[in-house]
Amino acid sequence: MPPAEKCRTRYGAYKYAALHLLLARWLRNHATANQYCYVTLGGTELKDCQSVHFIDPRMMGSAVSFETGRDRLGFAVANAASLATCGVTVTVQNADIFDFRRVSEEPHLFFFDFEGICAFGDYYLKFADMFLNGQLREQDTFFITSYLGRNPGWRKVMNEFDAQFRILGITDVEQKKVSYQRAHPSFTIYSALSHANMQTDIQVNCIGCVEYRDTSPMGVYGYVVGTGSTEFERFIRESPYYHANRGIAARI
Ligand SMILES: C[S@@+](CC[C@H](N)C(=O)[O-])C[C@H]1O[C@@H](n2cnc3c(N)ncnc32)[C@H](O)[C@@H]1O
Repeated sequence: MPPAEKCRTRYGAYKYAALHLLLARWLRNHATANQYCYVTLGGTELKDCQSVHFIDPRMMGSAVSFETGRDRLGFAVANAASLATCGVTVTVQNADIFDFRRVSEEPHLFFFDFEGICAFGDYYLKFADMFLNGQLREQDTFFITSYLGRNPGWRKVMNEFDAQFRILGITDVEQKKVSYQRAHPSFTIYSALSHANMQTDIQVNCIGCVEYRDTSPMGVYGYVVGTGSTEFERFIRESPYYHANRGIAARI
């Protein structure tokens, strides 16, 4: 394989099975508008864009895919050009998805298809900015992918989320590990809302988490934004959980 080919974002069926489960759950229970603007990290292959378009082109009334990887950008642009010949229009932007700026009032569907862990560092600040500047707002939906493999060290996890585990009344170490896997992006999102001081301004619900194994163990988590307020314990506990191998599991 030529070196450039190695940087392509190619995944197996489990990733898309997980994504499609979550999409199906969202469409059946939560999607309200006919038309959405689709904002994604489509990688080099834009495969999620193809799925969304196949399900219903109105879910991507407009579509933009962000790509910061210089080695990946050319492939993404070429794939976008090829998809355009099939009627699938995706604009590829060489920028950070957190710099996204809305150009339409329509509800947006975001796919933050990260390769790493959506916790620690400054993720909560980036999401806080998106809430504060109205880039993520009521009627929007967002999916987050997060890495579930080698954690940054259980000690670090326990320290980082000590306050969250206390609020949830979780003291058992194994239960803490399970909760981390099922909810760490939700911890990040709630921290973002707190940092933005917007917990009482909008209601964010986690519509589900699907854990799967592709090139590595991953989880995909879905969120809808509505009116009302977001209470931490309800936000964490009401999320249904599905494991690709073990099936449906009890809630936290
Ligand atoms: C997991 S891959 C995307 C796979 C794609 N969604 C699919 O279904 O085939 C994530 C891509 O987003 C890029 N990326 C990660 N974080 C980003 C960010 N904050 N802004 C822009 N691009 C980012 C990575 O370089 C990578 O190409």
